[in-house]
Amino acid sequence: MSKQDKRHIALIPAAGVGARMAAGSPKQYLPIAGKPMLRYAVEAFQRSELIAHTYVVVSAEDAYIGGVLPAGEPGVTVLRCGGATRMESILNGLRAARAQIGDDDLVLVHDAARPGLTPGLIRKLIEEAGGEPAGGLLALPVVDTVKSTRGGGVATTPREGLWLAQTPQMFPYALLERALGAAADPSAITDDASAIEALGLSPKLVEGHPRNFKVTLPSDIGIAEMYLKQDPA
Ligand code: CTP
Ligand code: MG
Repeated sequence: MSKQDKRHIALIPAAGVGARMAAGSPKQYLPIAGKPMLRYAVEAFQRSELIAHTYVVVSAEDAYIGGVLPAGEPGVTVLRCGGATRMESILNGLRAARAQIGDDDLVLVHDAARPGLTPGLIRKLIEEAGGEPAGGLLALPVVDTVKSTRGGGVATTPREGLWLAQTPQMFPYALLERALGAAADPSAITDDASAIEALGLSPKLVEGHPRNFKVTLPSDIGIAEMYLKQDPA
């Protein structure tokens, strides 16, 4: 398959329970400015002309997805194969979609809990990391002074060279499937890039945007609404 034939496929893990959000429903279904959180990420991929198809992974017992992504949603397939951890949900989704994705196709894994993604950020990642054999991810350089309490006392770690990982994280299908399949401890893998790094590879870091932060705590809802009112970066 030539480079031109590679497709870009989005895979959104949305099978978490949102324990830290502690709401009545999983956080990906909470309304943000009147729209369920999950729809923002799905619509960013639908609006990007670079994305061939989007897969959304939910848990087998999910009772909300039909109301949020009805059957027939253009360019979207829902897979009811979520696992106990984020990593397992992604691996299950990759395997369920196996027949529809080529080994060299680039898979963009994106958290349902990051509603601030834009087609512009998707384009930037693809343009800057699309040719990288080890893939790449959006990330933000650390701007604050970093403190560590790991040694018992308080120590300052130089922030130079430190980044905060975001998503999408983009890798060739076969590489990602191999890396996640080889990872020993699913709960220790909190992003896809760390499984790639464990193979001795270095994914490329592409500067993202603060609006693409992960909605985790109740106070994050208001911050997401503030960003979503602004013009997309
Ligand atoms: N996720 C998933 N399957 C899991 C756990 C998480 O698909 N078993 C997804 C979440 O739905 C989310 C993304 O992975 O889109 C990032 O996970 P996180 O922000 O940790 O979400 P939750 O696990 O739902 O939240 P918490 O850790 O607070 O329970
Ligand atoms: Mg979690």
